Amino acid sequence: MRVATSILRPFWGCVDDSISALRRALNEVESIVTLTGAGISAESGIPTFRGKDGLWRKFSPQALATPEAFRRDPKLVWEWYDWRRCLIQKAEPNGGHYALAELARRQAARSGSFTLITQNVDGLHDRAGSQNLLKLHGDIWLVRCVGCGKEQCNEEAPLKELPPRCDCGAWLRPGVVWFGEELPRGVWERAVEACSRTKIMLVIGTSATVYPAAGLAKVARNAGAQVAVVNPDPSGIDDLADWILRGLSGEILPRLL
Ligand code: APR
Repeated sequence: MRVATSILRPFWGCVDDSISALRRALNEVESIVTLTGAGISAESGIPTFRGKDGLWRKFSPQALATPEAFRRDPKLVWEWYDWRRCLIQKAEPNGGHYALAELARRQAARSGSFTLITQNVDGLHDRAGSQNLLKLHGDIWLVRCVGCGKEQCNEEAPLKELPPRCDCGAWLRPGVVWFGEELPRGVWERAVEACSRTKIMLVIGTSATVYPAAGLAKVARNAGAQVAVVNPDPSGIDDLADWILRGLSGEILPRLL
């Protein structure tokens, strides 16, 4: 196991050193992949799932984020997603989201590749100007009919009718991936492919406890990539990291530019 080159939490100096070392490396590599989690949206006022005031500390994922829960009580599930949509609609992307959009532009300007893989369904990366995102867990602004399967964008918050109905009369469900469901086929393959050919992978604001997403850093490592973690707290893949930047992504990511 490779020991992380700089992980000394109390010495901000080290974080500064790591930031300048990582910034230099990012300016030299032809391919960068980033994986983001709920932590990148925390500074925008969106609660994480497992953090101190995390959603799963207050709500039961089994009662709200599974196909069984929806079959059992679609209204309850939609009340929760409607509440989250209203919260997200009032939120703004933060410095972390904008920094990644800028990093992508700079990579494109030097004919390098930049892949943004996100576990987030909040759409804040899109609103910050990021493009061609690989959304592993779907999108809270998409709805899909459980009858005819039609998928459409719906940004109504709050929703007039709970649960909302499709034109065919059947219930609409949130366009997100629930526990026990498959990740969107093409999206997952493209994420694995990007990680298996990247030179640097940034893993930002995720506890790296939910698979298969948390396994992507290992794919990148096994392919010889360097891994950088941005998180104020330890995550499930710190042992894979070459750089660990202990801090808030909204503060650290802009400094990588
Ligand atoms: N900047 C960077 N990281 C942060 C910040 C911040 N400002 N605030 C919190 N974090 C970190 C936390 O320390 C934690 O490690 O973000 C992480 C959030 O972890 P989780 O709440 O577990 O969220 P995530 O990893 O995205 O969850 C994965 O689980 O519930 C499912 O589908 C849901 O996509 C989600 C998946």
